[in-house]
Amino acid sequence: MINKINEIRAELEAASAANAAEVEALRIKYLSKKGAINALMADFRNVPAEQKREIGQALNELKAFATDRINALRDAAEGEGDSSLLDLTRTAAPVRLGTRHPLSLVREQIIDIFRRLGFTIAEGPEVEDDWHVFESLNFAADHPARDMQDTFFIGRRPDVLLRTHTSSVQTRVMTSQKPPIRIICPGRVYRNEAISARAHCFFHQVEALYVDKNVTFADLRQTLLYFAREMFGPQTEIRLRPSYFPFTEPSAEMDISCDLCGGKGCSFCKGTGWVEILGCGMVDPAVLEACGIDSKEYSGFALGMGIERITNLKYRVKDLRLFSENDTRFLEEFTAAH
Ligand code: DAH
Repeated sequence: MINKINEIRAELEAASAANAAEVEALRIKYLSKKGAINALMADFRNVPAEQKREIGQALNELKAFATDRINALRDAAEGEGDSSLLDLTRTAAPVRLGTRHPLSLVREQIIDIFRRLGFTIAEGPEVEDDWHVFESLNFAADHPARDMQDTFFIGRRPDVLLRTHTSSVQTRVMTSQKPPIRIICPGRVYRNEAISARAHCFFHQVEALYVDKNVTFADLRQTLLYFAREMFGPQTEIRLRPSYFPFTEPSAEMDISCDLCGGKGCSFCKGTGWVEILGCGMVDPAVLEACGIDSKEYSGFALGMGIERITNLKYRVKDLRLFSENDTRFLEEFTAAH
């Protein structure tokens, strides 16, 4: 038995393999179930008792040696295969970095601008109830403004729905925190619209809300001007047009000067020199009261904008569907925008 063990060990020491197939042949010959070492193991029971200790140890060592040797031959064979092709002076293959989605880029820019004014991020659920999306924001059950926002309802319950705007986060925060409140709420919203280049059934908004003592329309205007100039450049002018939203009074829509034509009028701004970017206003006292905030002591302003809209203005994306198709050719165009 000892002779046989030494013989195999000598064979293994002398063995060589030029490629993976030859290594595998060696493994089968020595280490497989029907291999030489297992055959010796099977013979082990015929070894006289007084030699069992010595031979058992020699067998175990042989097996460990064979395993190491064959692994070493395999490593060498694999290395061998490549080494003729290996050019250590070659430049490393470039690592392809992913890109950030344009909507994420713009959302971060918006958040960053408001953060500098002291706003902090607040979030709310996408599956909402009627109270937070409509009722608390002054949309009574039969209010015609509900038709402006085609709502997706969930199941058969009329009060469970996908939020149609991030204004619902306003009431979530106002019912759970005390003024002063200064928040910015980015999020996805849903509307039951036919999908086209200009409309989608989901999109993204950012809402801002500021509630404190003595907050005035002048604060709103100054915040909007700061935002517009940080976002679109220092030459940007803003214009506020009277508008209507149930949850603000007075309400306004904000336009910025068209940066394509510098305000002179072009096809992009339909000759007006202005493009609309967001809705805003002073929080309606009824909304403050619905959330348990004393409207005689506190006032506030709110504003809401579509992230897709801002992104279109910055990067001129013509078709809204591009934002959700994940076409890497589109996404890669934003690599330099980081
Ligand atoms: N929630 C409005 C919408 O989805 C946008 C909006 C308008 C938000 C005026 C506001 C606001 O906070 O004051 O169309």
